[in-house]
Amino acid sequence: MYAAVVKYIILTLCAQTNAWSIHDYNAERANLLEQEFGLQVGGNIKLSDKENSANNVLMRYKRQEVDESFQNPKYFNFSRHYFTYKNDIEKSKVYHIIRKMPKGAALHVHSSLMLSAERLLALTYEDHLYACFADDDLKLHFSANVPQRPCHTKWQLLSVLRNETEDIVSFDENIKKHFTLYSQNEKDLKFDINYVWERFNKVCRTIKDLIAYRPVREKFFYEALKEFYNDKIMYIELRSGLPILYELDGTLHDLTHMPRIYHRVAKRFKEDHPDFIGIKLIVTIHRAKDINKIRKSIEIARRIKEELPDMFAGFDLVGQEDLGKPLVDFYPALTEAKDDINFYFHGGETNWFGSSTDENLADAILLGSKRIGHGYALIKHPSLLAAVKAKDIALEVNVISNVVLSLVSDVRNHPLASYLAFGMPVVLSSDDPGAWGADPLSHDFYISFVGIASKRANLRMLKQLVINSIKYSALNASEKLEAFKKLFKEWDDFIEDLSTNFR
Ligand SMILES: *[C@@H]1O[C@H](CO)[C@@H](O)[C@H](O)[C@H]1NC(C)=O
Ligand SMILES: *[C@@H]1O[C@H](CO)[C@@H](O)[C@H](O)[C@H]1NC(C)=O
Ligand SMILES: *[C@@H]1O[C@H](CO)[C@@H](O)[C@H](O)[C@H]1NC(C)=O
Ligand SMILES: [Zn+2]
Repeated sequence: MYAAVVKYIILTLCAQTNAWSIHDYNAERANLLEQEFGLQVGGNIKLSDKENSANNVLMRYKRQEVDESFQNPKYFNFSRHYFTYKNDIEKSKVYHIIRKMPKGAALHVHSSLMLSAERLLALTYEDHLYACFADDDLKLHFSANVPQRPCHTKWQLLSVLRNETEDIVSFDENIKKHFTLYSQNEKDLKFDINYVWERFNKVCRTIKDLIAYRPVREKFFYEALKEFYNDKIMYIELRSGLPILYELDGTLHDLTHMPRIYHRVAKRFKEDHPDFIGIKLIVTIHRAKDINKIRKSIEIARRIKEELPDMFAGFDLVGQEDLGKPLVDFYPALTEAKDDINFYFHGGETNWFGSSTDENLADAILLGSKRIGHGYALIKHPSLLAAVKAKDIALEVNVISNVVLSLVSDVRNHPLASYLAFGMPVVLSSDDPGAWGADPLSHDFYISFVGIASKRANLRMLKQLVINSIKYSALNASEKLEAFKKLFKEWDDFIEDLSTNFR
């Protein structure tokens, strides 16, 4: 298809050797741009009359925002760190429209980092929570008695500490800081990838401490589903390791307990919210582990697949790609599994062209990954890009994550702009929205739509992205049919609302 288009363009350009009338020139120019516009994500979507009037409302606001920044680039917030403008997003009309838009599915989220710091803080009000404050580290543990885990200072009941403090608000603010990377502090806005990942890993550890206690994990997960649902997300594919959960008396659960909890809580959530479709699970393990651990993890993934076939989606490796092992190191274990376990690999979450992390993209393609997490570096690989397009492997793009975790500082330079322009199979997701205080999806959609996609990209692109989220999910054919039915009903309501109430 590209070849045909390119040939057409060359032929038409070469034909114009004689002087044109300005009229012909303008027609040709419009044609050329229209051709290209048709290649974009959403280029094939036809809008109904209702959708067209909704689109007019949306685009009026989008053009206003983009024009303002174009004329005053010093006020263009998206060229700065997300933390500097996060709280201003509320002021945008486009954002409020996107908030209301049904978004289909979130396909790239890590389960323990789904929930906002506010809701995590609320969970620290649960009984029997011990805290160990040491320097700028916070360890947490639920226990009937003083925990046996090592602590440089002293384990104390958080409820007692909170009761003793003069100023509960700042006490709680201080705890909340351990649950989020969000900061207005100048030194936390710098783009040193290892520094940021270190902070990030610390936040992960504290949160995992809090939610390793089985009853709190259940509450946590229900709350997380609620935050996603309220952001108009109907279905989620979670990436989750298999942590060992405990009870108050110290009883430990086995590795397959957690998926059962996901299954049970999601079922309860669905009963309470009938228009929610559900979740599926991508089992993950840290890429720093050795191949035997990877084998063992795949073995457990198989057991989960057997026990909970409706919920199991596949397998992935996580952790900072640049510092972890490349996929090719695990080739023997992964190739053994690739016929019965679907892969959803992270790949190319790097700025290092030609590095082992960069080449993970080749392994993801060769090992048959169903989608690729991030695929940030793919733009530099024309053959791999063509293979991804030909095999219709979706790219799970997480823009805010890439800003916060230091891959890009001005989002206009994000490769998503090219992926959208080339009509690549793209889905938007949010990776770890709780860890940086983003909406489950709305912030990522808003920034992508206004800050990255073409100024001309409109409701057609948004609709295609929403459709893609179901199309490229791990739902089976009949589940997809059901999901699309619900999605299009919600979509029609959204269009009705936008075209009539949002002038
Ligand atoms: C951009 O950020 C500034 C503060 O730095 C804020 O006053 C302004 O409203 C923001 N603009 C938008 C469109 O969010
Ligand atoms: C809080 O402290 C007061 C005394 O300062 C005490 O009477 C009360 O029982 C404490 N409450 C809890 C929950 O520890
Ligand atoms: C699709 O998944 C549903 C469960 O959600 C299951 O009942 C059905 O059998 C599956 N269909 C196929 C073709 O696997
Ligand atoms: Zn991720």
